[in-house]
Amino acid sequence: MGIFENMLKDSESLFLNETELDFDYVPKIIKYRENQQQHMVTCIKPLFQNKNGTHLLITGKPGIGKTVAMKKVFEELEQETLDIIPIYINCWKKDTFYKIALYMCEKAGYKWTHNKKSDEIFKEACKLLNKKKVVFCFDEVDKLEEQSILYSILEDLYKKTVFLITNEKEWLAKLDQRIRSRMIPEILEFEPYSYDETKGILEQRKETAFVPDVWQEEAFEKVVEKTAELGDIRTGLFLLKESGNIAEGKSSKKITLEHAEKAIKKLDSFKIRDSKDLGDEEKFILDLVKEKPESTLTQIYEEYKKSYKQSYRTLQRKVRDMEEAGLLTIKENTTKQGGKTSTISVAGKKLTDF
Ligand SMILES: Nc1ncnc2c1ncn2[C@@H]1O[C@H](COP(=O)(O)OP(=O)(O)OP(=O)(O)O)[C@@H](O)[C@H]1O
Ligand SMILES: [Mg+2]
Repeated sequence: MGIFENMLKDSESLFLNETELDFDYVPKIIKYRENQQQHMVTCIKPLFQNKNGTHLLITGKPGIGKTVAMKKVFEELEQETLDIIPIYINCWKKDTFYKIALYMCEKAGYKWTHNKKSDEIFKEACKLLNKKKVVFCFDEVDKLEEQSILYSILEDLYKKTVFLITNEKEWLAKLDQRIRSRMIPEILEFEPYSYDETKGILEQRKETAFVPDVWQEEAFEKVVEKTAELGDIRTGLFLLKESGNIAEGKSSKKITLEHAEKAIKKLDSFKIRDSKDLGDEEKFILDLVKEKPESTLTQIYEEYKKSYKQSYRTLQRKVRDMEEAGLLTIKENTTKQGGKTSTISVAGKKLTDF
């Protein structure tokens, strides 16, 4: 019987709440970001006194809690008052004036948007939102296609605070001068977590996502080490989940160093990006490339333009952004005639299924 002793039964799992390891899960407490959250609150405070708020540009490397800290502030704001409406916009998903104006209508409770132009629906949203106060967050703002929405918000909404989040510190310089001079945001920089902070965050997740005592200490240490080395908490969440899955796959009742090391090996060949962060167009492009790997940009454009009225340059920029995010690989080839073409493929296998 001995060799079967450590086997998991069908009904057994090492996970208690696997969804707590999802990248978009917002934990109850966001450790080590109290000061940054306090800064955000200070920017919103004037709205409580019926004054205009302070705007804020939030920057820092990927996976260090910018989005989650902000989402927590929005969550608590919603519980505190009905007078201030938080509007969160992920600019990978909503990158045009129209898409954002439409979402503002949804938040304002205005339904008659059908067959109306961008400007009209924006005006309707403002009419309603101006009865209250608004906090905007434009996350991944460097992916915003039409900056004019920022201009219109700054001009036409009376009482608001605008947060912009980006990895690119220099992005502010690319912002239209007319918007910049209306905004003059304060800057809040997120520093990477220390080793101990990384450990603290992962420990918190380990405790709520897994059955108690399934992690062998050295295996968990290994995951913390790798996460701290890469400086991205998403890596840690992936490693926790993947190690658990590998252990379950082997019907083991414990997650051992061997499982953690296997998970790390898997990680090395991938880059992480949350598929839920992707906009419709990016998903569409990714699907095209998946269907026909090694397509040239021109071939992709032929299909893309049938569904989206965008220029070739826009597609080119989107593909480059997707390469940067680790989703696509662009390979430069030289033709027999000496010309250059680029072929596009999906980068490795992704961590999350698309
Ligand atoms: N202090 C923390 N406590 C708990 N979880 C955290 C903390 N910081 C980050 N995380 C988790 O790590 C992951 C990455 O964090 P987040 O999405 O906020 O990164 P980000 O800084 O916005 O990165 P990016 O620039 O790539 O968007 C999320 O799943 C988040 O819940
Ligand atoms: Mg983010």
